[in-house]
Amino acid sequence: HWTAEEKHHITSLWAKVNVEACGSEALARLLIVYPWTQRFFSSFGNLSSAEAILHNPQVHAHGKKVLTSFGEAVKNLDHIKQTFATLSKLHCEKLHVDPENFKLLGNILIIVLASHFAKEFTPACQAAWQKLVGAVAHALALGYH
Ligand code: HEM
Repeated sequence: HWTAEEKHHITSLWAKVNVEACGSEALARLLIVYPWTQRFFSSFGNLSSAEAILHNPQVHAHGKKVLTSFGEAVKNLDHIKQTFATLSKLHCEKLHVDPENFKLLGNILIIVLASHFAKEFTPACQAAWQKLVGAVAHALALGYH
Protein backbone atom coordinates (compact mmCIF):
# COMPACT_ATOMS: atom_id res chain seq x y z
CA HIS A 1 0.00 0.00 0.00
CA TRP A 2 2.92 2.35 -0.69
CA THR A 3 3.46 4.24 -3.91
CA ALA A 4 6.94 4.40 -5.39
CA GLU A 5 7.00 8.11 -4.54
CA GLU A 6 6.11 7.47 -0.88
CA LYS A 7 8.81 4.81 -0.59
CA HIS A 8 11.29 7.24 -2.08
CA HIS A 9 10.36 10.00 0.39
CA ILE A 10 10.72 7.62 3.31
CA THR A 11 13.94 5.83 2.38
CA SER A 12 15.81 8.84 1.02
CA LEU A 13 15.14 10.94 4.12
CA TRP A 14 15.87 8.02 6.46
CA ALA A 15 19.31 7.62 4.86
CA LYS A 16 20.17 11.09 6.19
CA VAL A 17 18.65 10.75 9.66
CA ASN A 18 21.05 10.82 12.59
CA VAL A 19 19.35 8.12 14.66
CA GLU A 20 21.13 9.05 17.87
CA ALA A 21 20.39 12.79 17.67
CA CYS A 22 16.83 12.51 16.38
CA GLY A 23 15.92 9.53 18.58
CA SER A 24 17.08 11.16 21.79
CA GLU A 25 15.44 14.47 20.85
CA ALA A 26 12.14 12.75 20.03
CA LEU A 27 11.99 10.85 23.33
CA ALA A 28 13.05 13.94 25.30
CA ARG A 29 10.36 16.04 23.61
CA LEU A 30 7.75 13.35 24.34
CA LEU A 31 8.64 13.48 28.04
CA ILE A 32 8.65 17.29 28.12
CA VAL A 33 5.58 18.00 25.97
CA TYR A 34 3.44 15.18 27.45
CA PRO A 35 4.78 14.94 31.03
CA TRP A 36 2.44 12.08 32.00
CA THR A 37 4.56 9.82 29.75
CA GLN A 38 7.34 10.19 32.35
CA ARG A 39 5.67 7.62 34.57
CA PHE A 40 6.81 4.81 32.25
CA PHE A 41 10.40 5.89 32.74
CA SER A 42 10.61 6.27 36.51
CA SER A 43 13.83 4.22 36.50
CA PHE A 44 15.57 6.75 34.21
CA GLY A 45 16.83 9.08 36.94
CA ASN A 46 16.38 12.86 36.87
CA LEU A 47 13.42 13.97 34.75
CA SER A 48 12.60 17.00 36.91
CA SER A 49 12.96 19.71 34.24
CA ALA A 50 13.24 20.11 30.49
CA GLU A 51 16.99 20.68 30.89
CA ALA A 52 17.37 17.54 33.00
CA ILE A 53 15.45 15.48 30.45
CA LEU A 54 17.45 16.86 27.51
CA HIS A 55 20.73 15.93 29.23
CA ASN A 56 19.65 12.61 30.73
CA PRO A 57 21.93 9.84 29.37
CA GLN A 58 19.27 7.15 29.82
CA VAL A 59 16.81 9.21 27.77
CA HIS A 60 19.49 9.54 25.07
CA ALA A 61 20.25 5.83 25.03
CA HIS A 62 16.62 4.77 25.03
CA GLY A 63 15.66 7.33 22.38
CA LYS A 64 18.35 5.95 20.11
CA LYS A 65 17.11 2.42 20.78
CA VAL A 66 13.51 3.37 19.94
CA LEU A 67 14.39 5.18 16.70
CA THR A 68 16.69 2.33 15.66
CA SER A 69 13.77 -0.01 16.18
CA PHE A 70 11.52 2.37 14.23
CA GLY A 71 14.03 2.02 11.39
CA GLU A 72 12.96 -1.61 11.02
CA ALA A 73 9.69 -0.23 9.63
CA VAL A 74 11.63 1.66 6.95
CA LYS A 75 13.43 -1.56 5.98
CA ASN A 76 10.22 -3.63 6.05
CA LEU A 77 7.63 -1.23 4.66
CA ASP A 78 5.48 -4.06 3.32
CA HIS A 79 5.57 -6.10 6.55
CA ILE A 80 5.16 -3.54 9.32
CA LYS A 81 2.63 -5.52 11.37
CA GLN A 82 4.82 -8.63 11.54
CA THR A 83 7.92 -6.52 12.21
CA PHE A 84 6.40 -5.06 15.40
CA ALA A 85 4.36 -8.04 16.62
CA THR A 86 6.77 -8.97 19.42
CA LEU A 87 7.34 -5.35 20.50
CA SER A 88 3.59 -4.80 20.55
CA LYS A 89 3.14 -7.67 23.00
CA LEU A 90 5.98 -6.30 25.15
CA HIS A 91 4.51 -2.78 25.32
CA CYS A 92 1.05 -4.17 26.03
CA GLU A 93 1.51 -7.09 28.36
CA LYS A 94 4.69 -6.18 30.17
CA LEU A 95 5.03 -2.39 29.99
CA HIS A 96 1.29 -1.49 29.93
CA VAL A 97 1.89 1.51 27.68
CA ASP A 98 -1.39 3.05 26.47
CA PRO A 99 -1.27 2.80 22.64
CA GLU A 100 -2.34 6.44 22.32
CA ASN A 101 1.28 7.22 23.27
CA PHE A 102 2.55 5.62 20.04
CA LYS A 103 0.62 8.27 18.09
CA LEU A 104 2.05 11.04 20.28
CA LEU A 105 5.61 9.81 19.71
CA GLY A 106 4.98 9.51 15.97
CA ASN A 107 3.82 13.11 15.74
CA ILE A 108 6.78 14.24 17.82
CA LEU A 109 9.08 12.43 15.40
CA ILE A 110 7.48 14.35 12.51
CA ILE A 111 8.24 17.62 14.31
CA VAL A 112 11.85 16.57 14.95
CA LEU A 113 12.29 15.66 11.27
CA ALA A 114 10.74 18.96 10.20
CA SER A 115 13.08 20.94 12.42
CA HIS A 116 16.16 18.98 11.30
CA PHE A 117 15.42 18.93 7.56
CA ALA A 118 13.44 22.17 7.18
CA LYS A 119 12.64 22.81 3.51
CA GLU A 120 13.68 19.33 2.49
CA PHE A 121 10.79 18.01 4.59
CA THR A 122 8.25 18.99 1.94
CA PRO A 123 4.50 18.48 2.34
CA ALA A 124 4.70 15.36 0.14
CA CYS A 125 7.56 14.02 2.25
CA GLN A 126 5.61 14.78 5.42
CA ALA A 127 2.56 12.98 4.02
CA ALA A 128 4.60 9.82 3.43
CA TRP A 129 6.15 10.00 6.91
CA GLN A 130 2.80 10.74 8.53
CA LYS A 131 1.48 7.54 6.91
CA LEU A 132 4.52 5.64 8.19
CA VAL A 133 4.25 6.79 11.82
CA GLY A 134 0.54 5.93 11.68
CA ALA A 135 1.29 2.44 10.37
CA VAL A 136 3.89 1.85 13.10
CA ALA A 137 1.52 3.10 15.84
CA HIS A 138 -1.20 0.82 14.45
CA ALA A 139 1.14 -2.18 14.32
CA LEU A 140 2.33 -1.57 17.90
CA ALA A 141 -1.30 -1.38 19.07
CA LEU A 142 -2.34 -4.71 17.50
CA GLY A 143 -1.04 -6.83 20.39
CA TYR A 144 -3.61 -5.17 22.66
CA HIS A 145 -6.58 -6.84 20.99
C1 HEM B 1 11.15 -0.43 25.50
C2 HEM B 1 10.52 0.46 20.78
C3 HEM B 1 7.10 3.72 21.85
C4 HEM B 1 7.74 2.85 26.55
C5 HEM B 1 11.28 -0.43 24.13
C6 HEM B 1 12.28 -1.19 23.41
C7 HEM B 1 12.11 -0.95 22.09
C8 HEM B 1 11.00 -0.02 21.97
C9 HEM B 1 12.92 -1.52 20.93
C10 HEM B 1 13.32 -2.13 24.04
C11 HEM B 1 12.69 -3.49 24.13
C12 HEM B 1 13.59 -4.51 24.76
O1 HEM B 1 14.35 -4.18 25.70
O2 HEM B 1 13.52 -5.69 24.33
C13 HEM B 1 9.50 1.38 20.67
C14 HEM B 1 9.02 1.92 19.41
C15 HEM B 1 8.05 2.84 19.72
C16 HEM B 1 7.95 2.88 21.15
C17 HEM B 1 9.50 1.50 18.03
C18 HEM B 1 7.25 3.72 18.81
C19 HEM B 1 7.65 4.16 17.64
C20 HEM B 1 7.01 3.80 23.22
C21 HEM B 1 6.19 4.76 23.95
C22 HEM B 1 6.38 4.50 25.27
C23 HEM B 1 7.30 3.40 25.37
C24 HEM B 1 5.34 5.82 23.28
C25 HEM B 1 5.79 5.21 26.47
C26 HEM B 1 5.31 6.42 26.48
C27 HEM B 1 8.73 1.91 26.67
C28 HEM B 1 9.28 1.47 27.94
C29 HEM B 1 10.28 0.54 27.64
C30 HEM B 1 10.30 0.41 26.18
C31 HEM B 1 8.85 1.96 29.33
C32 HEM B 1 11.19 -0.19 28.65
C33 HEM B 1 12.31 0.77 28.98
C34 HEM B 1 13.34 0.22 29.92
O3 HEM B 1 13.11 0.29 31.12
O4 HEM B 1 14.37 -0.26 29.42
N1 HEM B 1 10.53 0.26 23.24
N2 HEM B 1 8.83 1.98 21.70
N3 HEM B 1 7.65 2.99 24.12
N4 HEM B 1 9.35 1.25 25.65
FE1 HEM B 1 9.01 1.54 23.69
